[in-house]
Amino acid sequence: MRGEQRCVEPHCAARYGLDEPLLVCSRCGGLLEIKTQPARDSSDLRALWQRRRASSQARDRSGVWRFRELLPFDEGVFAVTLFEGNTPLYEAPRSASYCGLDRLLLKHQGCNPTGSFKDTGMTVAVTQAVRLGAQTVVCASTGNTAASLAAYAARADLRCAILVPRGQISHAKLVQSLDYGATVLEIEGDFDRCMSLIRELSEEPSIYVVNSINPFRLEGQKTTAFELLEQLAWEVPDHVIVPGGNLGNVSALGKGFLEMLELGLIERLPRVSVAQAEGAAPLVRFLSASPQPSSLAPISHPATLATAIKIGAPVSWKKAARVVQRTGGRAVAVSELEIAEAKAVVGRDGIGCEPASAAAVAGIKKLVAQGLVSPDERVVAVLTGHVLKDADYAMRYHTGRLFEASSGRYRNAPQRVEARAETILTLLSNRNRSWT
Ligand code: F0G
Repeated sequence: MRGEQRCVEPHCAARYGLDEPLLVCSRCGGLLEIKTQPARDSSDLRALWQRRRASSQARDRSGVWRFRELLPFDEGVFAVTLFEGNTPLYEAPRSASYCGLDRLLLKHQGCNPTGSFKDTGMTVAVTQAVRLGAQTVVCASTGNTAASLAAYAARADLRCAILVPRGQISHAKLVQSLDYGATVLEIEGDFDRCMSLIRELSEEPSIYVVNSINPFRLEGQKTTAFELLEQLAWEVPDHVIVPGGNLGNVSALGKGFLEMLELGLIERLPRVSVAQAEGAAPLVRFLSASPQPSSLAPISHPATLATAIKIGAPVSWKKAARVVQRTGGRAVAVSELEIAEAKAVVGRDGIGCEPASAAAVAGIKKLVAQGLVSPDERVVAVLTGHVLKDADYAMRYHTGRLFEASSGRYRNAPQRVEARAETILTLLSNRNRSWT
C-alpha cells in the first residue's frame, strides 16, 4: 500500500496506516482523507493512461483502475471491478441554450454499471473491504449507493446490508439491491437517521462501512476528474457543477483536480460548484451565511422530490465547503420545478438523467441568470444517475401529476389513440414541436 490516512482537521492532522479500518479520526472524530504516494513520476502518466484505453486487461478496462498510479494500492492488488468509469462526455446543445450558455458538456456518470456515479467509488471501497478481510459491508443510502454496494458485494462474495429510509427511495434503486442479493433494511426515518445508525454499527469490528465517509470511496470517485480532463485533452474547463447530497462527490472531484494540479498535469483549477434542492440545501445556507458559522447547521426535515439528495446533515460538508471555496465555485439552491424542467430538457438532448442529476443543470442555469457564470464559459455538468433510476418521477412529470400546479412546459404525456393508421398520421402531422 502506498500512502496513509490523514485527519482533515488542521489542528489534529493525525495520521493512520491504510490498513486501519477507521471511519473517522479516532483522536478527534474528524473526517479522514487518503494521501497517496504516486507510483511513479508524473511525466508520462497521461500517455500511460491513454494507452490503457486500448488494453484488454481487466484493470485497464476499468475507468477507475486505469488511473491506479494515484490509488493507494500495490500493483498486484485484486480489484473488484465491474468495468466502471469510462463514461461519456456529451455535447448538449438544447440544455446549453436552456441554461443561457453557448456550450454545455454533460459528463454522464449514469452510464456506470449500476447506473450511477457510485460505482467509481464502490470498486475501490469494496476492494479495500476484501483486503481487510471484512465479512459484512454496510451502507445507509437514498438508493444509489445501496444498489452499487449490493452489486460489488455480490461480485466479491461479501455479505451486504443496506439501510434505506422506508418509502423514500425510488423503486428502481430498491429493486437493484434486491436483485443483487443484499439484505435490504427499511428504516422508519430519513437518510440522516440511517446514517446515524451506520455510525453506531461501525463500532462492530466485523462490519465495514462504505458510505462516502469512507475515504476509499472518494479515492475512486476522484478519478472522474482525471477522466474528464483526459476527455477534454487536458484543457481545464472553467466550471464544473455537481449535485450535492451527502457531499462526498464534490469533495472527491475537488480532490481529483487538486491532485492533477499538484502533479503538474494541469496549470489551474476549474471552479467547482454544487447544486442542492431548495428543501435540502444545508451547504448553500452555510456558505451564504455572514458571518460564516463555525459549523454547518443540519436541516432537520429535508424535503425534495429528488430523493437521491434528500439529505439534511451531509457528512462531508467540511471537505465540500473547502473545495467550493478553494476553487472559487458556488453553492446554489434550485427549486423543485427548476429540477423537473432541467431534467426534461436533458431528456430532449437525447441524454436523460435522474432528478438529482438535473439539479446540476438547473444550478448552472441559475448561476448564468445571476451573472455569476458568463455564456461563453466552458462548463461541464456532472449527471450522476441514469434516466431509468426514477421512472415514476418522470411519469408523474410528463402526465402533469408531479406538482399540484405543474407548469408542464416540457410535458410529454402518452396519448391514447385509435388503432387506425389514418388517425395516427393526422395526429403526427398536427404535433406541435415548437418547444425548442
Ligand atoms: N446524485 C445522485 C443520483 C445521488 O444518488 C447522490 C447521492 C447525489 C447526486 C449526491 O452525491 O451524496 O456525494 O453529494 N446519493 C447517495 C446515496 C446519498 O445513498 O445513493 P453526494
